[in-house]
Amino acid sequence: MFEKLLQAIKNKPMLGWVLFLAVMGIVFLLGLLAASVTERRAEVSSIFNNKKVNISGIEARNEMWGINYPREFDTWSKTAEMDFKSKHLGNTKQDVLEERPAMVVLWAGYAFSKAYEAPRGHKYALEDVRNTVRTGSPDHNGGDVQPATCWTCKSPDVPRMMHEKGIAEFYAGKWSKMGAEIVNPIGCADCHDPKTMNLTITRPGLIEAFERQGKDIKKATPQEMRSLVCAQCHVEYYFKGEGKYLTFPWDKGSKMEDMEKYYDEIKHVDWVHKLSRAPMLKAQHPDYEIFLMGPHAQRGLSCADCHMPYKSEGGIKFSDHQIMSPLKNVASTCQTCHKDSEEKLKGYVYEYQDKAIEIRDIIEKDLAEVHVTAKYAWDNGATEAQMEPVLQLIRQAQWRWDFVCASHGASFHAPVETQRILAHSLDRTHKAMSALQKVLFAIGKTNVVMPDISTKEKAQLYIGLDMKDINAKKEVFKKTMIPEWIKSARDKKKLITPENN
Ligand code: HEC
Ligand code: HEC
Ligand code: HEC
Ligand code: HEC
Repeated sequence: MFEKLLQAIKNKPMLGWVLFLAVMGIVFLLGLLAASVTERRAEVSSIFNNKKVNISGIEARNEMWGINYPREFDTWSKTAEMDFKSKHLGNTKQDVLEERPAMVVLWAGYAFSKAYEAPRGHKYALEDVRNTVRTGSPDHNGGDVQPATCWTCKSPDVPRMMHEKGIAEFYAGKWSKMGAEIVNPIGCADCHDPKTMNLTITRPGLIEAFERQGKDIKKATPQEMRSLVCAQCHVEYYFKGEGKYLTFPWDKGSKMEDMEKYYDEIKHVDWVHKLSRAPMLKAQHPDYEIFLMGPHAQRGLSCADCHMPYKSEGGIKFSDHQIMSPLKNVASTCQTCHKDSEEKLKGYVYEYQDKAIEIRDIIEKDLAEVHVTAKYAWDNGATEAQMEPVLQLIRQAQWRWDFVCASHGASFHAPVETQRILAHSLDRTHKAMSALQKVLFAIGKTNVVMPDISTKEKAQLYIGLDMKDINAKKEVFKKTMIPEWIKSARDKKKLITPENN
């Protein structure tokens, strides 16, 4: 074969040159490839060794970290996208009260009855907490309705300010006092140690909850840390005492009943219901606690396995920091472990969600009716003694409902636990209604008329909210205070994003 080739070249010398050039070309391309591979390898190790800026202390400005870690920063920036809707969730704005107006009645007398939107990406955390009417419309003379504790799960400026002022001092202040300081949305310094880039816990609430249970969070494994960084915020908590000290109610354990027992023993009441006068609990968002009860946590998965999948770019593997619904990209999330088709995998999620929603909707309708009926009983002379058992059942029913509903991923994270809790909520709801019926018979009044609460506006009107006034004041706050906070932060270089960002 080789001799034949030599013969051919002798006959046609040009062929020899063509072959020579082709071989040279291939060698050149191989050389390029080898160079790029070594360059990429070098780049991977150089990411840590050749940081472009040296970050020390608590650096809340995400853009500074972005100089060293552009891939993580770019994907993190994409939490600003609002382009995905799954069957029930997604990263868009969603007015929950408009969709489920009965919730206005369930939260009568509490700020959530004024406004409640589904969560969206981390980059919106500050915009959303400033803009919601739940934080009120403070001005230079005060007028705060919330403590500074409300900033805790919104920004890496929080650990910075806690370090500066002290933890208890931070919580005890008014919300608006921190407006010009808390300016960078949830970011790098919330989860990372700047020196080693290891995951780290920056929120005292979680560290203290571990300590009170005799555990040391520093001993957590790297895989546990991939959930614990999220458990700094996606958990149940309450504001303890006058100092509004953010506390996790985990001393007796982190199951729904454990936390209820904790609250009952310290007689904690988040608010007294405006209609039923029941001593209510507001569940926050126990995503982490419910997740622990589910099949994936029990197989050792962490939040990051589904919400921060690995991504590859030019040979470099990194964690996708666009934390959102894993259903946007099933190929890099579920399908790294499951062989099922995308359609089937989404189908499992939707089936769990639909089944939970089926029960949830009955609870919301019936529990709203219980609150209204309880008001009717009070209005018609029912006594404290008669109402006491009813009020306890209402507290328990709503705590169970809220525990599941406020934790947006619950029905997929732990489908069986979710249905169990909903079943107990429905049970308490119906027990409250039959206890109420007895009270109504005892006082001889049984003509309860259900108000029209078919829309958010009608429900808010019914519970006595003047939303026009509340919204108008908020608009003034948005036009005056917020721009002042941002300007002050920019002047002091605490905020370095472009103007339109
Ligand atoms: C510092 C507190 C904090 C930490 C830490 C945190 N989150 Fe969040 N998360 C929030 C807040 C607040 C929102 C809602 C933001 C909004 O709606 O403006 C949110 C929203 C979300 C959403 C909804 C996004 C969407 O597109 O609808 C998901 C999913 C989520 N977080 C998952 C996680 C995971 C997973 C982790 C850990 C890797 C984590 N979060 C860590 C506070 C936090
Ligand atoms: C809500 C928590 C959270 C936030 C906020 C966050 N990270 Fe991460 N980051 C993680 C997790 C979880 C991992 C995976 C770590 C592991 O598996 O050990 C990670 C990994 C990394 C890594 C290691 C390489 C990789 O991609 O796996 C770098 C570098 C990094 N993050 C940079 C950043 C930067 C820069 C920011 C801010 C723009 C940021 N992170 C914000 C949780 C977070
Ligand atoms: C096995 C994969 C998986 C793991 C692990 C996982 N999740 Fe989820 N999560 C999902 C899916 C699927 C949804 C529903 C998304 C949808 O319907 O679009 C979801 C939804 C959510 C939501 C609601 C998002 C929204 O738009 O409202 C939050 C918040 C959340 N998860 C946080 C967490 C936290 C915190 C952890 C760890 C404690 C965790 N998840 C672990 C798969 C996972
Ligand atoms: C890192 C691997 C991993 C990822 C990612 C993952 N799963 Fe799983 N999943 C598992 C394991 C392991 C089990 C338990 C399987 C078993 O024991 O047969 C499981 C079980 C399940 C089950 C059965 C639950 C039950 O009740 O036993 C469903 C449904 C499921 N996964 C759906 C999903 C969906 C949807 C996603 C993406 C949002 C996903 N998984 C992401 C590993 C994973």
